[in-house]
Amino acid sequence: MTAGQEQPTELLHGIPLFAHCSEDELTEIAASLRSVDFPRDAVIVREGDLGDDMYIIAAGRVRIVAESRGHETIAELETGDFFGEMALITGSPRSASVVALTEVRLLRLAKDRFDHMIREMPQLSLEMSRVLSGRVSQIAPVGRDLRGRTALLTGASKGIGVHIAKALAREGMNLVLTARSAEALEGVRAEVEALGVRAIAVPGDVGSRAHLQALVVRAISEFGAIDLLVNNAGVLLTLAFHKVFAHEIEDHVRVNLTGPMFLSWMVLPGMLERGAGHVVNIASLAGKYGPAYNELYSSSKAGLIAFTQSFRASYRGSGVSASVIVPGFVESGMYERSRKHGLRAPRVLGSTTPEQVADAVVRAVKKDLPELVLNSGPIKILLALPTLLPGVAEWGRIRLGTDNLYRKAAEIRAKRRDETGR
Ligand SMILES: NC(=O)c1ccc[n+]([C@@H]2O[C@H](COP(=O)([O-])OP(=O)(O)OC[C@H]3O[C@@H](n4cnc5c(N)ncnc54)[C@H](OP(=O)(O)O)[C@@H]3O)[C@@H](O)[C@H]2O)c1
Repeated sequence: MTAGQEQPTELLHGIPLFAHCSEDELTEIAASLRSVDFPRDAVIVREGDLGDDMYIIAAGRVRIVAESRGHETIAELETGDFFGEMALITGSPRSASVVALTEVRLLRLAKDRFDHMIREMPQLSLEMSRVLSGRVSQIAPVGRDLRGRTALLTGASKGIGVHIAKALAREGMNLVLTARSAEALEGVRAEVEALGVRAIAVPGDVGSRAHLQALVVRAISEFGAIDLLVNNAGVLLTLAFHKVFAHEIEDHVRVNLTGPMFLSWMVLPGMLERGAGHVVNIASLAGKYGPAYNELYSSSKAGLIAFTQSFRASYRGSGVSASVIVPGFVESGMYERSRKHGLRAPRVLGSTTPEQVADAVVRAVKKDLPELVLNSGPIKILLALPTLLPGVAEWGRIRLGTDNLYRKAAEIRAKRRDETGR
């Protein structure tokens, strides 16, 4: 077969990367691929070249060589593997050459087709991101210095997420930012880049697996590795449970719990491979002791706390860890908006600032802390009560007035639902 010929679908069947693709997807991929042959010892990609095309190895083996680092061999790839932008392999773009170790047949795919594939074919992007996240060899030394490392932050378009993005940028971290509002996200991206780091905005829904897969592939192809994942995106619906729509139950669990779990699962193989990585989950005091009218929120945040504890315990000693941040009322985002309706948290429960939450994220990573409960009030003592004296805790909660606060919030929300149907 020579350059320029159409690639038959059968060839793709033999490549493990495409094992989960449907026949329709294989036909679509085959139509985008062009076959190219190289003799042994040929230089396929030269270090420093733009390297915008992606290559899948249909037959043969190649070596990835960093010429500028004394011709160090970074990886050897074989049939079924893929390469392109060197960030996919080495951690930084245009940083290595690719040399044919044998006669090689490659399937060439233009960059825009590659981007299209990872967006439109969830199974393929899942497989790719799993392979990629395990493959990248980290060149920077492992440690708790965040400078030059990469963080993926969800919920970065507004509220607390903006403060976390800035705090991580001030630590010198490059950032992959996601949330649904593309315009707001782009604004935050520009703001953090002004702090001297690189940042990309990848808009999308963290409740969608397809978006999360494409997000991880994009992050790795841009920066080479994800060193820190901060699951900050969250949704809150304070409403009497019988007024909640059925789909909202699943929507909340997807955004607040299974999205973070799925993202953690995707970045984990690469972190384990490098022996370094951290996941920070932003939960809530509601996950410690469920308040009235918050069934969706409190249960998903409780799940997030337990998930963090198990994850942390499982990977202890591997260099990979997890922390959970448990804020009470934060003077930003969701709570700030509810204050516009005249709702005020009881003084004794205290509050915290978004800057303190952001600072806690940085501290949790640097010091590898399991959990940080953030609040200015005597909340930690109160949190011990539900375990030690549940009856007293319930009595105390009624006396504190939190049930009343949330009842008012639920009534406001129910009124809006009655008026608008939403
Ligand atoms: N504020 C508080 O008092 C408080 C207290 C305890 C815990 N927390 C937790 O802190 C985190 C941030 O809260 P916040 O107060 O900053 O809330 P916020 O102002 O409502 O911001 C939430 C962020 O999550 C994103 N998001 C929501 N749904 C999403 C989806 N389906 N896909 C992608 N992104 C989504 C939003 O962006 P888009 O709308 O653009 O998608 C936004 O960037 C949440 O996990 C929250 O539970 C907040």
